[in-house]
Amino acid sequence: MQKAVSLVSLLVLGSVWTLEGVHTLPETLPLPQEDFHLDQFMGRWFEVAVVSTCPHYMQRKRGNPVIVALQLQHVAPQVNFTMTAASVRNGSCQQTSTVYDLTDTPGRFFHRILRFDADVDSFMVETNYDEFALMLLLSTEKPSGTKTTSIKLYSRTVDVTPAVLLNYKTLVRQHGMSDEAVIMNHKKDECAPRELETEPTTQPQISAPKKSKRNVVPPVDSHNI
Ligand SMILES: *[C@@H]1O[C@H](CO)[C@@H](O)[C@H](O)[C@H]1NC(C)=O
Ligand SMILES: *[C@@H]1O[C@H](CO)[C@@H](O)[C@H](O)[C@H]1NC(C)=O
Repeated sequence: MQKAVSLVSLLVLGSVWTLEGVHTLPETLPLPQEDFHLDQFMGRWFEVAVVSTCPHYMQRKRGNPVIVALQLQHVAPQVNFTMTAASVRNGSCQQTSTVYDLTDTPGRFFHRILRFDADVDSFMVETNYDEFALMLLLSTEKPSGTKTTSIKLYSRTVDVTPAVLLNYKTLVRQHGMSDEAVIMNHKKDECAPRELETEPTTQPQISAPKKSKRNVVPPVDSHNI
């Protein structure tokens, strides 16, 4: 048993070094869920609770605690997946997509936030795929070196059971945050993200008429939320 545990931490450490080169390791490196299956994690999720050590993020979320609908999509064999979120901004639905790079460790992902020049390591700490997912995000703003820990609770439905919430709050406390700081999103949103078209977006310009492309986009379905 002890052997297995140390093997896992060696593997995780190994991937940190290959991924981040000379970057410093967080004091306690979270372990993603064992035997994680990416494809079962894809699809529709709702972001039902969030907590973060970043005061700006918390302030923004408190001001607008919307249950954001997320659409996760992995196109095999690509070594990344796309998370698309849709929310009402200024009276209209706006979509934002984030591409998460897969790492050598299943359940660990990496992306950059260009706006803040931040590197983000994400860890799928625990999920049962059809109900909830606990995601831990460690980000570092490169100019200042400021580190932020965020923990998000994703749910397949807009509601969560008390057991799932307890599980989430336990994780929050384990990472040194107060579960009283947790923001329960509750405002319903009026828009839902669409699945992305599966053709690669980086293809050299295909001179298809713009009109036909627009017709492919399915109407936004707001009835599911
Ligand atoms: C996703 O990964 C594929 C390789 O698997 C790569 O070609 C593509 O550029 C990546 N997409 C983004 C947006 O990084
Ligand atoms: C919001 O919409 C109004 C009217 O369409 C526009 O004048 C305004 O610039 C928009 N504000 C933002 C922040 O996009």
